[in-house]
Amino acid sequence: MRRTTDHRSEYFQDGQNIVWQSIKVLSTCKDIVHCESPGAWSKQFDHAGQTGGAGSPPRSLLLLLILLTGFPIPGMAGDLTALEQLGKQIFFDTRLSTPAGQACASCHLPEAGFTGPTSSVNERGAVYAGAVSSRAGNRKPPSVAYACFSPSFSYDSEEETYVGGQFWDGRALNLIEQAKAPFLNPLEMNNSNATEVVNKVLKSSYQHLFRQVFRKQAESSDADVLFELIARALAAYESSSEVNSFSSKYDAYLAGKVELTAQEQQGLDLFANKANCTACHPHEPDSEGHPPLFTDFTYDNIGAPANPENPFYKMAADVNPDGARYRDLGLGNALHNQAQWGKVKVPTLRNIARKPAPGFSKAYLHNGVFKSIQEVVHFYNARDVTPHEFGPPDVLENVNRDELGDLQLTANEELALVAFLQTLSDGYHIPSPGDPGHSPVAENGNSPLPATNSSHFRAASDIARYLRFRQNAHRFAHGPAETVR
Ligand code: HEC
Ligand code: HEC
Repeated sequence: MRRTTDHRSEYFQDGQNIVWQSIKVLSTCKDIVHCESPGAWSKQFDHAGQTGGAGSPPRSLLLLLILLTGFPIPGMAGDLTALEQLGKQIFFDTRLSTPAGQACASCHLPEAGFTGPTSSVNERGAVYAGAVSSRAGNRKPPSVAYACFSPSFSYDSEEETYVGGQFWDGRALNLIEQAKAPFLNPLEMNNSNATEVVNKVLKSSYQHLFRQVFRKQAESSDADVLFELIARALAAYESSSEVNSFSSKYDAYLAGKVELTAQEQQGLDLFANKANCTACHPHEPDSEGHPPLFTDFTYDNIGAPANPENPFYKMAADVNPDGARYRDLGLGNALHNQAQWGKVKVPTLRNIARKPAPGFSKAYLHNGVFKSIQEVVHFYNARDVTPHEFGPPDVLENVNRDELGDLQLTANEELALVAFLQTLSDGYHIPSPGDPGHSPVAENGNSPLPATNSSHFRAASDIARYLRFRQNAHRFAHGPAETVR
């Protein structure tokens, strides 16, 4: 059923396909993203001379777009709309916790793939303390990147499965609802109410941007209205092409810009066939040509062992009444439904290998029990063969025993899978023949250069955003910032 053949030619055949396919992709996020007025694009197309470089869409297409529209193509450094820029300011603002000191980015660092920024924490409990450092939640921060593609939480009666939502257990309907939660969570940013957050934003260095973006609405005296605007700005940043850049080596490979090494190619074949990872982490553009997200946003219990170093076990009874006997029931807890016990949302595999520096440790699974991709792959391969290596599942109910646990992979095949998973890190730099030490593969399938460098591979999504901007600019230019669900 699943094709493992090279689908590059059918995927990005020409510029036109890139544009139209990506418009459809981005429409997934369009409920959340609102394009700003043309004034937001005042940075203009100052990199025009560099288009057509490695990974860029055909130069003729870009020139045509510029001629037809007179507007810059986003995707270059600093191309965020005013709304996204506002969201970014909020995302990195450490004043917004009580006491001050913790921002969203304190648990979702871009260079760590928008997840936990502290190597020593990841090596152990993998759960981040809140603004009040004696308090901690129960889970590892998942990636914020590509979360905007998760549909609103719902039950798919055809597939008989829950799908979408935000958080490991889907308890937030969408990104806007999610964004409000950490501010008020006593285990995280610990503000006592919306007013506290709103007042800090209204006194921030970017308060002018807030007023400029939301105009009349920003003058509201209703804290809930203003809090909603803050959440919308965050959701817009999280839905921007800066956060969802589709700029990994694998994206470059799908676009026909680079070859995989033999080992990465073997890993891809295993991922798609023998190991069947793609059953939950789809790796191909979908039937409409959307780039793969490496998650289908459904829920499963893969039998993750408990992480004994999770600080949540030691939290006081008002936070964790179960003490050391605590089990993370995931979706089952959110729905109060035993048939869903132990299931958590399938995470994207994009950026799982992304690290701020070599030697930095990351943590995997919802409780961060595993410390390397290799361990995760070995767990999938051998969970049911050598169970003593891993410990029993935290939640025994509903463990998936059909699709994983005994994959019969050799040690070399495990390594090949790991090599493939390392091609999913954004910010890949396509080596050009002139580069010193030119080689088709960078270490870790990634480059230390930031993704915003204009010579980098940039995904078609950038063009799509631009076109969508053109379509929507008149609607959103100065219109009301309506609530979107
Ligand atoms: C103290 C650490 C911490 C802080 C601060 C924090 N987060 Fe998180 N974030 C987490 C954890 C842990 C989860 C998963 C919680 C769960 O599933 O129960 C999470 C989940 C998320 C998700 C869901 C992603 C998905 O795929 O389901 C998004 C989006 C997110 N956070 C954005 C934010 C934003 C926006 C802020 C700032 C307003 C923020 N976070 C502040 C730790 C943090
Ligand atoms: C039946 C669905 C399913 C299949 C098949 C599957 N996964 Fe997963 N994967 C999940 C779920 C669900 C999680 C989260 C589990 C948890 O946190 O307890 C996950 C988590 C992961 C993670 C950790 C990501 C993170 O951010 O912590 C990696 C890596 C991973 N899977 C790789 C693979 C590989 C490689 C394969 C094939 C060998 C595979 N998966 C097959 C459902 C699946």
